[in-house]
Amino acid sequence: MADRMTAPQFLAKKAKGEKLTVLTAYDATFAELADEAGVDAILVGDSLGNVVLGYPTTIPVTLTDIVHHLKAVKRGCHRALVIADLPFGSYQAGVSQAVESAVTLMQAGADAVKLEGDYFDEVTAIVRAGIPVMGHLGFTPQSVNTIGGHRVQGRGDSAAKILSQAQDLEAAGAFGVVLELIPADLAASITSLIKIPTIGIGAGAHCDGQVQVINDVLGLGSKKYRHAGEFLSGRTLIIDAIRQYRLSVSNGEFPTGENSFE
Ligand code: KIV
Repeated sequence: MADRMTAPQFLAKKAKGEKLTVLTAYDATFAELADEAGVDAILVGDSLGNVVLGYPTTIPVTLTDIVHHLKAVKRGCHRALVIADLPFGSYQAGVSQAVESAVTLMQAGADAVKLEGDYFDEVTAIVRAGIPVMGHLGFTPQSVNTIGGHRVQGRGDSAAKILSQAQDLEAAGAFGVVLELIPADLAASITSLIKIPTIGIGAGAHCDGQVQVINDVLGLGSKKYRHAGEFLSGRTLIIDAIRQYRLSVSNGEFPTGENSFE
């Protein structure tokens, strides 16, 4: 079995000009599939609030929720770097809370943590505790209530702010930064001005890597998003398969002798 990817190896891929692929997973089965497909990192994202737990936003997701799903992912993933999201309310109260929450995630099996926004002191302190941290800028879903909706960030004058936040995250010791829903040319200039990898989602093709929500990649959801890449019509295929199962039970075709025991 290949060795597990480390945060320094992840970071070093930028200097080698190798693109990085990150995919979310929330359970052991899909973590195993993503790992086998060769992604660099699996993100136990707080998007689990939306796609697994059925909440309208990521705000209700707790540290306990992330720990529960992280443990399942870690059991299924043997090679990719496992990054766990610090959820809303687990780091905003200050440096000690941020370090304690990050320690909880590491002790539950994370190889690195991710947090949203300009929490540079918190990033510095978590890194000082020996924990690799990824930042997350642009549209930050945990701030949806102050942003006022799912909106592209960094157009016009606010572009300079996102660039300087990315530079501050690099200075604080982050090993990478997610850029979500920002103009492609802004993402391209940030990518050229910092040495840590930029991981885009709705941030164009010039980032050092991409991150996607697995449900979007597999086409499982009923909503389509412009930033999402769909590589399977999973929803249709799964509904068809379940319908076939239902029909074959009702018409007596399943189970057959092969599914039965002497
Ligand atoms: O929670 C998540 O899935 C994320 C990605 C969208 C970057 O933070």
